[in-house]
Amino acid sequence: MQIENKMAKWNYWTERSYYHKELRDRAKGIKSEMEAAKQISQLIFEKAKSYNSILDAGCGTGHFILSLEKKLKDGFQYLGIDITEQHIIDAIDIFKENTNYQFQLGDIRSLVVEDKSYEVSICSNTIPHIPHIGKAINELIRVTKGDIFIRMLISDEVLITKKALSDVFDENGEPESFMYVNIYDENYLKNIIGNKGELFIYEDIFDAKAIMSHYEDHKSAAGKNIATRIVEGSQFKGHLMLPWKIVHIKLT
Ligand SMILES: C[S@@+](CC[C@H](N)C(=O)[O-])C[C@H]1O[C@@H](n2cnc3c(N)ncnc32)[C@H](O)[C@@H]1O
Repeated sequence: MQIENKMAKWNYWTERSYYHKELRDRAKGIKSEMEAAKQISQLIFEKAKSYNSILDAGCGTGHFILSLEKKLKDGFQYLGIDITEQHIIDAIDIFKENTNYQFQLGDIRSLVVEDKSYEVSICSNTIPHIPHIGKAINELIRVTKGDIFIRMLISDEVLITKKALSDVFDENGEPESFMYVNIYDENYLKNIIGNKGELFIYEDIFDAKAIMSHYEDHKSAAGKNIATRIVEGSQFKGHLMLPWKIVHIKLT
């Protein structure tokens, strides 16, 4: 399979072995559930029409499964897709006992998935960090029958931000390697969705104490400007404030 931009400058995850371990530990239940995983699982339970089949795009190691299992008691088919090969290798190994859970190496912007084949799609913490999100959201709309839940950054202005990972720049003056931390506005989403669905935006629930205790570990592994911290009640990555929201697209 051809993975476009696998080694692109924005693709932060490929070489981050500390992050691979972090997500492996979460999927094995060694590290605690993410607040976002709990909140999205609860929202699926409360708001989705049905949830027998779930697509998780940008799934990492599939660690959302643990939270979904707690909330959705009846079981579900799950397909996790991720562009980082190491995550998919780890996920296949960790969840090999349960044949309802499948994993695929792939790019959210060109999914190898049939139209309308999943009742629910999730995409958590991925959209802010990739280019061409219109393609990604259109793909989620194409493959989903019912409800889409996306954790992303929403505010009243659009900010396309490159967090440089070093101070080396290429011939165009762009950072040699960087992480996107992009914020979009509601209007942008409405234009993508058009008449294909209804848009709801929910506040992100987070545990400030848990974030700050994780920050201490995370900053030594990833750097202080990558790790999330709390400043005056808001989430920050370095100098950038993170207006996390859960976007719910209810398809019509
Ligand atoms: C910050 S992690 C989020 C993982 C998990 N969804 C969570 O919320 O903890 C972002 C994930 O998106 C994946 N990713 C980045 N770009 C992608 C793309 N274009 N298609 C599919 N996965 C992508 C990365 O490999 C990484 O596993």
